[in-house]
Amino acid sequence: MAERVLDLPLIAEAEPPPAVLTRHRDSIERALRRAALPAQSHLGRMGAYHMGWIDAAGHRTDAPSGKRMRPALVLWACEALGGDPESALPAAVAVELVHNFTLIHDDIQDGDRQRRHRDTVWAIWGAAQGINAGDGIFALALQTLLVPGADADRRMRAAYALTRAVVEVVEGQCQDLALEGSPAASTASYLGMATAKTGALLGASLAAGALIAGVDDECARRFDAAGRLLGLAFQVRDDWLGTWGDVELTGKARDSDLRRRKVTYPIVAAYEIATEDQRRELRHLFGERDAASDEQLRILLDRCGGASLTADSPLVLARDAVAAIDPSDVSRQSLQEFAEVAVHVAERVR
Ligand code: IPE
Ligand code: IPE
Ligand code: MG
Ligand code: MG
Repeated sequence: MAERVLDLPLIAEAEPPPAVLTRHRDSIERALRRAALPAQSHLGRMGAYHMGWIDAAGHRTDAPSGKRMRPALVLWACEALGGDPESALPAAVAVELVHNFTLIHDDIQDGDRQRRHRDTVWAIWGAAQGINAGDGIFALALQTLLVPGADADRRMRAAYALTRAVVEVVEGQCQDLALEGSPAASTASYLGMATAKTGALLGASLAAGALIAGVDDECARRFDAAGRLLGLAFQVRDDWLGTWGDVELTGKARDSDLRRRKVTYPIVAAYEIATEDQRRELRHLFGERDAASDEQLRILLDRCGGASLTADSPLVLARDAVAAIDPSDVSRQSLQEFAEVAVHVAERVR
């Protein structure tokens, strides 16, 4: 299967996202707004601010929102397996809300004050209220997915997959924090952490769409596996963007990972191939805590080959993700669509 992806033209940076990520964007956005809490409540205001619908004072705005990639993948999976994408909207909304809950908490944990070109929730309302905002959005996600009514059994199976993924994401976040400051961490420990913190939710997105389409557990498991690999590609690319990306495009501070001495893919990839002298320098720089050593660290990562390994690795993972979809489950066209998303994820600039 992997060869099929090789047929694809490489997506130039300026090219728009693939159709899968845009064609249901309006209905996803409408469903997200329908699910939202009233913006008059404190919780609703923080949520609506984070989603890009209002400013901090509560006035309507059209701020940059997220890419809404995960709900688009829920609908793609459902459609690809013969389901009605409309019926997958509650699952799509739930996945996107869960994603946003993890982002609100992640920004507190990482001490990041900027996301999507704006102040983060905790930077405005403080960490304690940020915890409330995340908790409330998580509960709202489940409330949306588990509302009594049609397709209850399928939605229950999707909710089970989603909540299992949340447990894994939180474990991944614990590992991410525990690994901070360890330049000699193994590639295996990085991959385990990244699969948990990011792969699990991408896996659950595809699995939830599949379950809403009514497939058996085995097929949902294959979709989950493909989503996890896609998530790994996504996170490695995120690590590249966090070290060498353009802040104007990402909307996030570029030096956050370096400053916090995060164990990112550039670190483990560079350490693995570095000379003994370079490893010593890496360990030394990890012990220093100033802006000059952040910059030296970036230069060293480049010199060791960490930058090019990090730039190349997502495409390999993206191909693995496509290969994990069994061609007997989906049409050639659906597989092609997924391949386009995978390549886009591997080369994204925002
Ligand atoms: C950011 O995810 C968090 C990671 C898993 C790396 P996205 O880049 O999908 O965030 P938004 O929703 O588009 O802002
Ligand atoms: C990504 O965290 C995973 C989650 C948010 C659960 P990161 O800390 O690596 O992502 P960004 O760069 O802040 O979006
Ligand atoms: Mg972060
Ligand atoms: Mg983080």
